[in-house]
Amino acid sequence: MKNLLVTGGCGFIGSNFIRYLLEETSFSGRIINVDNLTYAGNVSSLDDIQRNYSDRYCFEKADVCDPAAINEIFKRQGIDSVCHFAAESHVDRSITSPEIFINTNVKGTFTLLEAARNQAGFLLFHHVSTDEVYGSLGKTGFFTETTPYAPSSPYSASKAASDHLVRAYFHTYGLEMTLSNCSNNYGPFQFPEKLIPLMILNALNGKPLPIYGDGTNVRDWLYVRDHCKAIWMIMEHGRRGETYNIGGECELENRHIVERICDMVDQSGRAVHSHASSRELIRYVKDRPGHDFRYAIDCSKLKDELGWKPEESFDTGIEKSVAWYLDNLAWVANIESGEYLEWIETHYKGQEK
Ligand code: NAD
Ligand code: DAU
Repeated sequence: MKNLLVTGGCGFIGSNFIRYLLEETSFSGRIINVDNLTYAGNVSSLDDIQRNYSDRYCFEKADVCDPAAINEIFKRQGIDSVCHFAAESHVDRSITSPEIFINTNVKGTFTLLEAARNQAGFLLFHHVSTDEVYGSLGKTGFFTETTPYAPSSPYSASKAASDHLVRAYFHTYGLEMTLSNCSNNYGPFQFPEKLIPLMILNALNGKPLPIYGDGTNVRDWLYVRDHCKAIWMIMEHGRRGETYNIGGECELENRHIVERICDMVDQSGRAVHSHASSRELIRYVKDRPGHDFRYAIDCSKLKDELGWKPEESFDTGIEKSVAWYLDNLAWVANIESGEYLEWIETHYKGQEK
């Protein structure tokens, strides 16, 4: 892999992946980051990478749904491999505005697959997907790679469609691919609409902490660097045509995460509100429509075949994440555009039960 196209590299996981690859692995090729800078993309997340690796890293502002732009980049940059992150990623937004999810997540993936299959000498298409394609678990059980797809939201349905397309290109055209379905990530550079950064920043600023339903929904949390490490292991050593589940083996109820964050923010001494405890800001609000109850991943295939295991526990990962947000409030101020503030205001309005 000499010329690796990373899509969505200005988003949360994509930017962490580019940093991981250049700073921590023996990858010696070039990275071409294609991102059209939606509300969730921030080119400044990679300012230091642009400075320190200008010979091996470049940014191309382009829409993955635009075949002319994508084909031109494939030819000009001699793309031989793809790691595809670019997506609309927030479940709540997919409920209110589903169309862009179908465009970006389905048509965008299709456009990249077409460019890849027409590129001479193309080596690998890695598709980054989600455990949400499997639907919801009850109190017991785990998702494996053979769990039938049963997506609940327009977001997860669009990701499921993109997964099927990637596998179809392997079976029909022999396009070399790998695919990963991962659980909830957290860590540096995550857009503040997602649960963990939203709660850190709202607790800090004395804003309400909205918990959907009764807060007993369970997610399987994975520190973002552990996800990046797994993706690169799969790209380097995974069997072509195969799917690997990635999970943190760290199941937690939402209410317990929020309480934990409140206590950490209080202990930091940085909260700018007058409540005795940030827990006083917790509000149980109307549930998310179609809210999946529980996700939990069985990642034994990845562990047994490739020897991967997560390095961070939730204790160490959440410590690093809270510290990162407290140290990077300028990044937060930069990414919180007018569009985001308007969206968040409307989204949580009238949700109190
Ligand atoms: P994100 O929303 O933080 O970033 C998405 C990036 O894609 C942004 O930089 C955005 O500008 C870019 N993008 C969106 N539409 C584009 C388009 N049409 N053309 C070019 N670029 C476009 O998302 P994330 O949380 O980093 O997720 C990355 C990928 O990982 C997604 O495919 C998501 O489904 C998957 N995933 C995320 C998680 C998670 O917990 N965040 C877990 C499993 C899988
Ligand atoms: O499981 C992987 C998925 O994880 C990824 O595919 C998605 O891109 C990513 O956004 C994430 O989806 P979730 O819907 O699980 O993440 P979110 O941070 O939106 O919510 C996590 C849980 O917290 C979920 O049960 C809903 C709840 N929640 C979320 C928000 C934003 C609240 O209770 N209150 C909130 O304000």
